[in-house]
Amino acid sequence: MKKKIIVFALLIFTPLIIVLSNNTSIKSQSEATYVGVNSCVGACHKTEAQGSQLSIWQSSKHANAYESLKSAFADSVAKARGSEVAAVETPECLKCHTLGVDLASAKVDDTFDKTQGVQCETCHGAGSEYKKLSIMKDKQKAMDAGLIIHTDKDAFCTQCHNSQSPTFVSFDYDTEWAKIKHDIPAKE
Ligand code: HEC
Ligand code: HEC
Ligand code: HEC
Repeated sequence: MKKKIIVFALLIFTPLIIVLSNNTSIKSQSEATYVGVNSCVGACHKTEAQGSQLSIWQSSKHANAYESLKSAFADSVAKARGSEVAAVETPECLKCHTLGVDLASAKVDDTFDKTQGVQCETCHGAGSEYKKLSIMKDKQKAMDAGLIIHTDKDAFCTQCHNSQSPTFVSFDYDTEWAKIKHDIPAKE
């Protein structure tokens, strides 16, 4: 009889504990806010020894993704999609050309600058909780605080590089990654 009660209690409470503990981690991630490129490269991700992520990104089209919506061509593309406002004000365009999420619902703080286009946090997750050097130094800690490290990179890129993009032609992961490739150099 006792055994039965224990088994019963386990059945009830184990899922509950799992649900509760999962919830707290989801909560801390959803509380993270986007802080913008400057917070990622203040002291880090800049020098050659660290992998020059800043300059690689700056010279990529991602850095210009917001600005490139400010052209007559972009406006004509938006118009053809039924937008009655400029491309740079069209939520559907801004979604892929900035964070990959609806900007109106994204949590941003006052250091965030949407004109930075597709930036570090678009791909690596909102940075407010992992940006501190003491956290960033420990990859696992940073990931627990919301840093996203991609394993299925192709699937990630094609969230934007797909036929929902009005100018889409094709996307080959290896070719396109080679154009924006950045990493942490191996230590000697
Ligand atoms: C949030 C949406 C989004 C994601 C995710 C994304 N991109 Fe992009 N990417 C864009 C946009 C928007 C442009 C076009 C920028 C412009 O020219 O205005 C672009 C342009 C590019 C270009 C330049 C293409 C050219 O014609 O020169 C490359 C290369 C590229 N992306 C590679 C990647 C790779 C590799 C990944 C995945 C690791 C990726 N992108 C993920 C939105 C995204
Ligand atoms: C278009 C998406 C995209 C953008 C924009 C982007 N990254 Fe990345 N980044 C990746 C992918 C994909 C990888 C390889 C897999 C991974 O580590 O997530 C990567 C790898 C890295 C790594 C190596 C991680 C490791 O553990 O090896 C660092 C550091 C990094 N990025 C920093 C940055 C910084 C800083 C910026 C902005 C200046 C930036 N990234 C912008 C997609 C992006
Ligand atoms: C599903 C994501 C997505 C959406 C939605 C999207 N774009 Fe893009 N856009 C991209 C990507 C990725 C690229 C780069 C590769 C390509 O052309 O698909 C790009 C490239 C562009 C370019 C540069 C093309 C060139 O070669 O000069 C312009 C301009 C542009 N988009 C305008 C718009 C406008 C305007 C809208 C809104 C009507 C829009 N985009 C909506 C993802 C998107």
